Amino acid sequence: MNKHLKVVIAMAVVSVFAMSFTQIQAQDFVKKDVPSEFKSKENPHKGDESLKMIGLRNFNRHCVACHGKKGEGDGVMAKNLKTSPGDLTLAEMDQYNDGEIYYLSFIGIADRPDFMKLIPSEEDKWAVVNYVRSLKK
Ligand code: HEC
Repeated sequence: MNKHLKVVIAMAVVSVFAMSFTQIQAQDFVKKDVPSEFKSKENPHKGDESLKMIGLRNFNRHCVACHGKKGEGDGVMAKNLKTSPGDLTLAEMDQYNDGEIYYLSFIGIADRPDFMKLIPSEEDKWAVVNYVRSLKK
């Protein structure tokens, strides 16, 4: 094999490797589809600072086991799940509106528990949505 060809092949191998690596990283955040009735749901408690402690308390009680104390997805139960709980502190989470966060937080699907009855109060649910929003790196 001539020397030139070897160099070309080596470069091709390196770039394919580099491409697959960036792809894996890009897959960290995948925006999920949310039914339109949730997308259009208005948050009646938007920006209500007085609900902060209620949000924190509910998050610690119901969510930390999987999502971790800071929401980074490292709760004690996280490794036993089939799907990753994701990282709620990612800037990309801002792509969701409050109604979408509501859906993703409380409507159970697969590994995601259903909290519609476990957190019966709507005010408490929106307090949790506001709290999830406040989680940042
Ligand atoms: C038993 C583990 C578990 C508990 C407890 C749990 N979740 Fe999750 N959650 C998950 C999993 C797993 C996913 C990812 C599901 C998927 O990819 O379809 C998820 C996804 C989410 C998402 C979407 C994240 C994203 O990147 O798309 C939000 C928001 C969320 N959960 C909020 C909450 C809130 C708020 C609570 C508490 C009221 C909670 N979760 C409790 C397991 C859990």
